[in-house]
Amino acid sequence: MKLCDLHTHLLPGVDDGATSMEYALQMLRNAAASDVALLAVTPHCNRPCEKRNYLDGSLRERFLQLQQAAKDIPVDLVLGGEVLVDEQLPQLLRQKKIPTINGSRYLLTEFPVDATPGFFQDMLQSTLELGYIPLIAHPERYLSVCQMPQIVVPWLDMGCHLQLTGGSIMGEYGKTVQRTAVYLLQQDFVACVASDAHGLHHRSNFLMDVYDHLSLRYSKQYAQCLMYETPMGICCDNDI
Ligand SMILES: [Fe+2]
Repeated sequence: MKLCDLHTHLLPGVDDGATSMEYALQMLRNAAASDVALLAVTPHCNRPCEKRNYLDGSLRERFLQLQQAAKDIPVDLVLGGEVLVDEQLPQLLRQKKIPTINGSRYLLTEFPVDATPGFFQDMLQSTLELGYIPLIAHPERYLSVCQMPQIVVPWLDMGCHLQLTGGSIMGEYGKTVQRTAVYLLQQDFVACVASDAHGLHHRSNFLMDVYDHLSLRYSKQYAQCLMYETPMGICCDNDI
């Protein structure tokens, strides 16, 4: 079994994830122990009052330092970002300031938790018009989606995709989020499941439990699709 984790806060010192290189390496060993073969580091990007983590030399340099430090750990690394969607995003995309997953068309997008249905629709549309494919991070945690999960259908019809967080499926974010996550899985609305790991314990990147749960509850094939085949396709910029 091999897994691919497309959403982690593992690049040290740039957001609320790994606090040091040593801690990042421990997280990576944790990923390797969980059979993760490829992992995207996706620092928070475009968040106000925080490091913006736009795509520039400094971000690439930090990524190369991590790759170098982790060369003995059997996990391939790619660079991405988890971009907060706001009115400035289209302009930032035109300026090529936003890191996509491994330089692909796929953009891991985070919305404000209370984003309105109209805001989702407008911003997803403008992102698609610029040639990017939104991979919507943890839809199960947004209020609009919890209240009316069918809201995602037009987003999928437009060509967007959904990334669930493993912890949501396992109940780490409460019953409402878990119920929403299960509904999205049962409807086959989900492209991939990732860790959104911020550390070794709470919100960890040990994904094996999630894989086992999905295998038992649904099927091995579904788990493999959600946690390896489709995320690998995204990394390779394939149509999924
Ligand atoms: Fe995240």
